[in-house]
Amino acid sequence: MTKHTFPENFLWGGAIAANQVEGGWNLDGKGLSVADVASYKPNVDNKDYSAHLSITNEHVKEAILDLSDQDYPKRRGIDFYHHYKADLALFAEMGFKVLRLSIAWTRLFPTGEEMQANEKGVTFYRNVFKEMKKLGIKPIVTLSHYEMPLHLSTTYNGWVNRKVIADFVRFATVCIDEFDDYVDYWLTFNEIDSIHRHPFTTAGIITENSKENEAVQDIYQALHHQFVASALVTKLAHEKNAKNKVGCMLTKLMTYPLTCDPLDVELTLKKNLENNFYTDVQVRGEYPKMIEKSLADRAIKIEMLPEDRKILKENTVDFLSFSYYMSMAESGSPDAERTPGNTVLGVKNPYLESTEWGWQIDPKGLKIALIDLYDRYQIPLMIVENGMGAVDQFVDGQIHDPYRITYFKQHFMQMKAAIDEGVDLIGYTSWAPIDLVSAGTSQMSKRYGFIYVDADDQGVGTYKRSKKDSFYWYKAVIESNGESLFKAI
Ligand code: BG6
Repeated sequence: MTKHTFPENFLWGGAIAANQVEGGWNLDGKGLSVADVASYKPNVDNKDYSAHLSITNEHVKEAILDLSDQDYPKRRGIDFYHHYKADLALFAEMGFKVLRLSIAWTRLFPTGEEMQANEKGVTFYRNVFKEMKKLGIKPIVTLSHYEMPLHLSTTYNGWVNRKVIADFVRFATVCIDEFDDYVDYWLTFNEIDSIHRHPFTTAGIITENSKENEAVQDIYQALHHQFVASALVTKLAHEKNAKNKVGCMLTKLMTYPLTCDPLDVELTLKKNLENNFYTDVQVRGEYPKMIEKSLADRAIKIEMLPEDRKILKENTVDFLSFSYYMSMAESGSPDAERTPGNTVLGVKNPYLESTEWGWQIDPKGLKIALIDLYDRYQIPLMIVENGMGAVDQFVDGQIHDPYRITYFKQHFMQMKAAIDEGVDLIGYTSWAPIDLVSAGTSQMSKRYGFIYVDADDQGVGTYKRSKKDSFYWYKAVIESNGESLFKAI
């Protein structure tokens, strides 16, 4: 009979990113990052998805001159910079084995071009890791999570310029050396595929700075530089210490054909192949043949140094991590109804419900994703983001969030089912265990946490932390290693 518990040593935890939680945007020598100029866009997902792509030089200039955090919520985050001890204690209370967090490049290298790291930045993260060690929580560190130095963006158009590889490797070397005592799990680039959806956030590319009609070419070039940088950092981490495990990180965008019309099926297949491109390179170590053909057909020419292909081939990742929030459908019909998802606009699936932000909730899709990825790559998998954004309200002094509990419960059951069918899933970190500033819209009111943070979209509030009902529920899941899922709530 199948057991009701997850595998022994399963890595339960949560995930956050520096730019969405830390605040302290101008403290202790930190430089400006691309996140510090991201303005509040409450309706971006539902009404104006293209706003993600429309960062202009003018916008950036205006933001640099504005020294307040009023219109730039990621500058204040949830003030984790000052609350980290209490927040980590709450994660420990839930029983976290791991916490996925990122290191803000600009705390260590304010412009990205310094040759020596800012000691105060190093000290901050060392203190965070020390505290985690004390609490028995292992870090999973993302080196690049939407927070590259703004200077590299405005001066070099970000990752389009090959010199940024060396800047990133210098930053990563400091992290791997300085935090060797604390960190075993490293992720190089968060959602590396997202460069096509929001090139500024992911790679510092201001598309109006590309030559006419060369924005797409530039994006592929920048992506190639990130692939090479990721492989070089993987090599570094392996050479530094054999215990280091390095993973890639993909936005798993599950797409289904809306109907069994072969056209819908073909379009869907193509979408899913595109989504696999990134992990194909990072896990298999080479560009897929069909992607190369498609690039050539579109006259996109990636400049590579002679050694690049060898670097990619010899330094593949140890595990594959991904985010999973929603799924969507695809159709050949131009009239098919569309709905927003995680920085995508997909075709609406009539069988699924959606969150208040229109993202289609699909627990079974997570099982399908796990089987699909494991069958394709046969390496350990980690889910490093999954969760639902919702509006929470206090009733009699407590947040009752059955919708969140239901979301997680359904997803966990599908994870368990995938494991039972043979998938090697080694860990799960929810997005996010504590309310934080949304990446896409910069809202606080799009809440993901098991822990409520008293701050509104304007940053007004006491920043006091409170446990929601889901806090106790997740704690019970971890404590029983999943067995509590099989008992009535
Ligand atoms: C992921 C990002 O794509 O989605 C996170 O890695 C982000 O940074 C999460 O917060 C949820 O998206 P949003 O826009 O609701 O914050």
